[in-house]
Amino acid sequence: MGKQSQLEKVKERIIINKVCEELAEQATQLVFGDGNPDADMVFIGEAPGKNEDLQGKPFVGAAGKFLNEMLEMIGLKRGDIYITNIVKYRPPNNRDPLPEEKTAFLPYLRQQLEIIRPKLIVTLGRHSMDVLLPGLKISQVHGQPKKFKDQIYLPLFHPAAALYNGGMRQTLIDDFALIPQILKAI
Ligand code: URA
Repeated sequence: MGKQSQLEKVKERIIINKVCEELAEQATQLVFGDGNPDADMVFIGEAPGKNEDLQGKPFVGAAGKFLNEMLEMIGLKRGDIYITNIVKYRPPNNRDPLPEEKTAFLPYLRQQLEIIRPKLIVTLGRHSMDVLLPGLKISQVHGQPKKFKDQIYLPLFHPAAALYNGGMRQTLIDDFALIPQILKAI
């Protein structure tokens, strides 16, 4: 079975297993993931926002536009990466995902990663970092590749947090610029 079909099965299992049913009831749809399942890199955000909930795809709003711009700066397009979120339904009023919501979705995120087997996993913001690289502080480790259980991770600030914060915005752009050399070194 190809990677895309395997990913479809994971998506079906989230629905069949009624993961976070309360969130699902308030959301328009499941926002599973998008992009190239053969990519070298998987980017993982927090949870869908309003635009993502309506369109069914991750990072299609303002944060997504900024992410696309940073990808372009390093010569990549959205089709060159795979992108998803730890929590796959929009939390009401864009509140932070709850610990139990992140825990409930983690096995499915792990299945996605197992299928794609990327060289590099880029976590965007503290929520996806916390579940995959527990115990780290984003302000201390952003932009530094971390090896954990034979997988290389790059924790970055979240593009939505950095969007309107000049200092953090430049830090994220600078961290992003490290990606090509990090990938090359793997
Ligand atoms: N922020 C996220 O973390 N994920 C999205 O898909 C959109 C905005």
